[in-house]
Amino acid sequence: MIPRLPIAPNGPSFSKLIYGTWRILDDADTANSADLLKRFHKCLELGITTLDTAEIYGLYKVEEFIGETLKKEPGLRDKFEIVTKCGIYVPCDYHPDRKTAFYNADAARIVKSTEKSLRLMGIDHIDLLLVHRPDWLTSADETAAGLNKLLKEGKIRAAGVSNYNVHQFELLNSRMAQPLVTNQVEFSLLHMDPIYDGTGDQCQRLGIKPMAWSPLGKGALMDKTQSASSRIHAKCAELSAKYGDATVDQLAYAWIMAHPSQPLPIIGTNRIDRLVATAKSADIKLDREDWYALWTAAKGHGIP
Ligand SMILES: NC(=O)c1ccc[n+]([C@@H]2O[C@H](COP(=O)([O-])OP(=O)(O)OC[C@H]3O[C@@H](n4cnc5c(N)ncnc54)[C@H](OP(=O)(O)O)[C@@H]3O)[C@@H](O)[C@H]2O)c1
Repeated sequence: MIPRLPIAPNGPSFSKLIYGTWRILDDADTANSADLLKRFHKCLELGITTLDTAEIYGLYKVEEFIGETLKKEPGLRDKFEIVTKCGIYVPCDYHPDRKTAFYNADAARIVKSTEKSLRLMGIDHIDLLLVHRPDWLTSADETAAGLNKLLKEGKIRAAGVSNYNVHQFELLNSRMAQPLVTNQVEFSLLHMDPIYDGTGDQCQRLGIKPMAWSPLGKGALMDKTQSASSRIHAKCAELSAKYGDATVDQLAYAWIMAHPSQPLPIIGTNRIDRLVATAKSADIKLDREDWYALWTAAKGHGIP
């Protein structure tokens, strides 16, 4: 069973692996409520109790799809923690008025988007709201005002950010009535920025856990034709037997979770078999040398 961990001091507890919904409308075979319901049940069976979504996913259609699916089974929503994000606005069928994609994290927009997310998902609170990307045109006071209002009204239980650098995080956090509980960032063997850019260190200092998006590099890590991936596959083949015949994706997840900031990876598959296989990664504890061997394989050179 996947364990649950507090994501921050006085923050909510989330499952160590999270189910991501970015792609749930992408595949015609699985983009239906019956299939998603099966995945939700499998998640619960495995101990994956946290769902990650966003206003913009599926060009603003994923939250509604989640809502339709949750409504099929009374009580199902209460078995999950729901994380959603707001702040990215792109031209699309829903918004023919928009000519350019933009970010907006002003207070009124955050409140309006959150109320829309609650309505579309048919729920009365969001467990964690994230500002999806830093909006360069909005002050931290303004963004914090929106988040603080939603926290006070109980519409969101916790607030956090995604894709913020350490300075942007520190600034917004300084304006919050209740501290930010996470920074959701891209982190994988193919994208290691959080271990160099201060994100992992900041999370440790504050005692919060980052959420790791695209843990398989948007699927690129499974594509052996790419040079970094082919080196990682070769190293994983050497290590597999030592870790109970672990597969490349399982070792890649274990590599992320071994970082001392204790990142919570977000699973992106639409396939139940892959969901089940991924869950096994939570039990793999990589040895120091093997963690560095995977780093070395990914980079194509040794440590400096
Ligand atoms: N905050 C942000 O800015 C942000 C940005 C991007 C994503 N996210 C979150 O992170 C979640 C995960 O991101 P992601 O979907 O990019 O994750 P990912 O795991 O890096 O990539 C998922 C892709 O890899 C494929 N895949 C998974 N396992 C595979 C395997 N064993 N062999 C071959 N292909 C495999 C999946 O296809 P199948 O479905 O066929 O398995 C899917 O197309 C999203 O759902 C979303 O919740 C957040």
